[in-house]
Amino acid sequence: MSWKEFPKVELHLHLEGAAPPAFIRGLAAEKKIDLTGVFDEHGHYAYRDFDHFLKVYEAATEALKTPDDFKRLTQAVLEELAEHNVVYAETFVSPDFCGGGDVGAWREYLAAMQEAHVDGVTLKGIVTCIRHFGPEQAKTAALCAAETHGDFILGFGIAGAELVGTARDYLWSFDCAREAGLRLTAHAGEWGAPDTVRATWKDLGVERLGHGVRASEDPALVDDLAETGVVLEVCPGSNVALGLYPDVAHHPIARLRDRGVKVTVSTDDPPFFHTTMTKEFENLERAFRWGAEDFDALNRTALEAAFCDDETKARVAKQLDEATP
Ligand code: ADE
Ligand code: ZN
Repeated sequence: MSWKEFPKVELHLHLEGAAPPAFIRGLAAEKKIDLTGVFDEHGHYAYRDFDHFLKVYEAATEALKTPDDFKRLTQAVLEELAEHNVVYAETFVSPDFCGGGDVGAWREYLAAMQEAHVDGVTLKGIVTCIRHFGPEQAKTAALCAAETHGDFILGFGIAGAELVGTARDYLWSFDCAREAGLRLTAHAGEWGAPDTVRATWKDLGVERLGHGVRASEDPALVDDLAETGVVLEVCPGSNVALGLYPDVAHHPIARLRDRGVKVTVSTDDPPFFHTTMTKEFENLERAFRWGAEDFDALNRTALEAAFCDDETKARVAKQLDEATP
């Protein structure tokens, strides 16, 4: 069965990582930017492993130069979300790719993103620093986030190469964002062992973890996550595409859920991983026999953990109520 019509809530989606390859190729052609090595012979993003993925990802962002490029990108992403009946999504946006950390420029990029619109889809932003760009650049991203906390920018997080440095190296940035009232999430437990998941969670004081799936290797940590109600932004298709698990049937999402951990489902960087929210649902049905009740529960967990205000949550909840069979 196709789960396309089923309404969905997505918490973990990188804006540049959601760029359709044809969109990036079109921009590159307009601007005469050479993107050799970014695409394979079928026109898909081409990468060998996670480190190479990060390089290709950054190379593709070379085509995204102006606020208007980001407006067009956001419009394309909203249309794709609508196609899969995603009614609410939070997307990671990065000052590093939007104005190089200059607050004035950053404001212009954010204003442009917010001009994009598709009826029925609510999109909010989480500013993310990039771990392998180092702690000093992360501070600049945190300051941009703090300056623009508002109706669109709701949170702060960290993405990139998880094994670079320690979580504490980024503490200043997370404290800065927390003091500005931003909600916090961090990529951890995608590549890092359970001790780095615990360190990231505790040291940075985040309420959600991006991926977090390697926590499943430590039963005591799983119990702690379940007890405290930390929410995992799980991206099964991403984890399989990057080689963490051979297939969704071997993915720990079902075990984590059954142990009481709050799990949600997202696509991360959908065209890179040949996934969509519909495909994620289909794969979970095939692997674990999950059905409408399970997916409704995922949606409700995600909406509860969303960083938006109560009024927005109530409006989205109503959309879920009306569209859930
Ligand atoms: N940036 C985009 N996708 C990412 C991922 N899966 N892990 C870390 N950083 C990312
Ligand atoms: Zn991610």
